[in-house]
Amino acid sequence: MRYTSAAALAIAAAPFVRADSYMNAEKWSIGKVVPPAGTPWGVAYGKAQAALAKLTLQDKVGIVSGVGWNQGPCVGNTSPVSKIGYPSLCLQDGPLGVRFSSGSTAFTPGVQAASTWDLNLIRERGQFIGQEVRDTGIHVTLGPVAGPLGKTPQGGRNWEGFSVDPYLTGLAMAQTINGIQSVGVQATAKHYILNEQERNRESMSSNADDRTLHELYAWPFADAVQANVASVMCSYNKINTTWACEDQYTLQTLLKDQLGFPGYVMTDWNAQHSTVQAATAGLDMSMPGTDFNGNNRLWGPALTNAVNSGQVPSSRVDDMVTRILAAWYLAGQDAAGYPSLSLSRNVQGTHKTNVRSIARDGIVLLKNDGNILPLKKPASIAVIGSAAIIGAHASNSGSCGDKGCDNGALGMGWGSGAVNYPYFVAPYDAINTRATSQGTKVTLSNTDNTSSGASAASGKDVAIVFITADSGEGYITVEGNAGDRNDLNAWHNGNALVQAVAGSNQNVIVVVHSVGAIILEQIIALPQVKAIVWAGLPSQESGNALVDVLWGDVSPSGKLVYTIAKSPNDYNTRITSGDDSFSEGLFIDYKHFDDAGITPRYEFGFGLSYTKFNYSRLSVLSTAKSGPATGAVVPGGPSDLFQNVATITVDITNSGAVTGAEVAQLYLTYPSSAPRTPPKQLRGFAKLSLTAGQTGTATFNIRRRDLSYWDTSSQKWVVPSGSFGISVGASSRDIRLTGSLSVS
Ligand SMILES: *[C@@H]1O[C@H](CO)[C@@H](O)[C@H](O)[C@H]1NC(C)=O
Ligand SMILES: *[C@@H]1O[C@H](CO)[C@@H](O)[C@H](O)[C@H]1NC(C)=O
Ligand SMILES: *[C@@H]1O[C@H](CO)[C@@H](O)[C@H](O)[C@H]1NC(C)=O
Repeated sequence: MRYTSAAALAIAAAPFVRADSYMNAEKWSIGKVVPPAGTPWGVAYGKAQAALAKLTLQDKVGIVSGVGWNQGPCVGNTSPVSKIGYPSLCLQDGPLGVRFSSGSTAFTPGVQAASTWDLNLIRERGQFIGQEVRDTGIHVTLGPVAGPLGKTPQGGRNWEGFSVDPYLTGLAMAQTINGIQSVGVQATAKHYILNEQERNRESMSSNADDRTLHELYAWPFADAVQANVASVMCSYNKINTTWACEDQYTLQTLLKDQLGFPGYVMTDWNAQHSTVQAATAGLDMSMPGTDFNGNNRLWGPALTNAVNSGQVPSSRVDDMVTRILAAWYLAGQDAAGYPSLSLSRNVQGTHKTNVRSIARDGIVLLKNDGNILPLKKPASIAVIGSAAIIGAHASNSGSCGDKGCDNGALGMGWGSGAVNYPYFVAPYDAINTRATSQGTKVTLSNTDNTSSGASAASGKDVAIVFITADSGEGYITVEGNAGDRNDLNAWHNGNALVQAVAGSNQNVIVVVHSVGAIILEQIIALPQVKAIVWAGLPSQESGNALVDVLWGDVSPSGKLVYTIAKSPNDYNTRITSGDDSFSEGLFIDYKHFDDAGITPRYEFGFGLSYTKFNYSRLSVLSTAKSGPATGAVVPGGPSDLFQNVATITVDITNSGAVTGAEVAQLYLTYPSSAPRTPPKQLRGFAKLSLTAGQTGTATFNIRRRDLSYWDTSSQKWVVPSGSFGISVGASSRDIRLTGSLSVS
């Protein structure tokens, strides 16, 4: 145990009351946390405790144990208890819709949602996902994702999460969870924690230091807990040599005591390694209940035996059940009429509007020489590349299960976090429809053959070239990439294709569909490449969203949620072959580039528009005081951590000629009294849609948390005294206004 029980008890003080003192504290250090009556969790706990009193040990073990891999209709299922009206719980992937469904929407991946920096669209996305999950008859959806955070650009599952910045990811997590749970579905924040790569994910140990753990990787999980997330999924990796799903420090001390998490921890599928240690460390639900071979059942009868032999206290099992039942009551799933399960029911409604909005507003315009975009009714366009048309990926072809291929247009990465498309609007089809309606002639070269591409581009007014980069979950290898990307190059010789096209056309527009950063240097070096449109992962509305931007129906308004470097070596993180010491600490992505003085190709937060924005009138109002957060622990952490302590505003004027939206970003520089901290950290953003000439005010509400660092010696969040630097701008490097905030 790394943490004194006295400190743990102090942190877990009122309003959460320990119903029984640490039973066998030396051995287990497990306490029951009871949220106060009157709060949503308090009401749910009251119902759960009443139900618990009616249950036998066998009932309880059935609630906490999956019934086995492939032993039920969903990827996870538990045993029903009819005397309390509790169903066989159905748990299903994943973070962007309903896995294996043939009737649901393929929502945009998290990274695309984050690229909009639009919390309204992100919340709506969550709500629509929740509605489809519920209407399909599923109780628990296995998302959203805050881990991986994405510290390594090659990380295979980064695209399932939101951004490498924990502040942005945290807000996106909270809005997504609010949306999902507003319609009575249980959300799952995953993968907890320090699961940053696919390679060796089921054997490696992630050994992050305490401050890095709190300020980067646990940060967005705290937002999830604050948003009353029902469940948290522990990850496959080890933490300081202990399996994540049996690590008492991260499960009990950090998540349940420090963050005040009242819900339940479930394992990732087959991430459990023990019966007793997992139970006593703080695990609450075993998934899927057996390993993928259908044997090795670690809970179920084995848990019953462990209780009967005194190895696991029955109070611990009661705590597991209370947490699981409380989450079910919290979601209101005890009410009559929960839909029956059907993975073919059409539940899409009009949710494609959200897919198109996010696919469009998440597009980042990286380069636009001579304002080649928006297109001005060219006489002829060449569309080039296999990624412009529907291939196995977009057609849900059987050879591309869980999207484990990169053939044709790309809309999401691969793995358990992928879903079927109900339809897919390919870039070429949307471009062709739009162009033809204006009398523009369109020529297609639908392969990555360089000579075909060059000849298609020859003599055309504009050539639009499509390139991709893909990644996914490690159980599928695609073109030699075992989940994580082998490198940061465009796939399918994308650089060579662009070069060939640039050899025969002076007006080349490159459209990139990618899971994350790629190195663009060879493309940037070509003067014929006038525009680069970073279209990310648009899912089913790909072509429609792209056309909206190419023809200027909307001005692009997405901003990068990670850094695009000039060289892979400019990042200070790698896919590791053994354990990962997380030695880069807090200095990941732009925090590293800023600290090391490395100029990126396109910095975090960057994105062009068809209009211009002027920043003026920075105003700072603060009541912030230095010192530790001392509030009682509520879901998310000490209550005062989430109080607003400063309000910063700037005026933004659309000084260009067309309507557009600007994402204004606020970065803080900590005073020198704080321990070494990245030069700038994102601590606020606001997206404003403004007509030409219009001025709006961006308001940044700064919480105590946003000024705090994790003090490892006192084990508290502390606001340092001194002067905080304020930088407000259009990206992490395009700072337009600066000021300061003084804290005594
Ligand atoms: C890992 O162990 C080190 C050394 O004891 C400690 O400082 C650190 O906080 C631990 N990290 C986690 C995530 O448990
Ligand atoms: C590309 O297309 C040309 C002309 O159609 C053909 O001769 C050549 O073999 C193709 N190259 C590849 C690599 O398929
Ligand atoms: C832009 O804002 C600055 C103040 O930050 C102001 O001096 C300038 O006049 C503004 N320019 C335009 C074109 O509005």
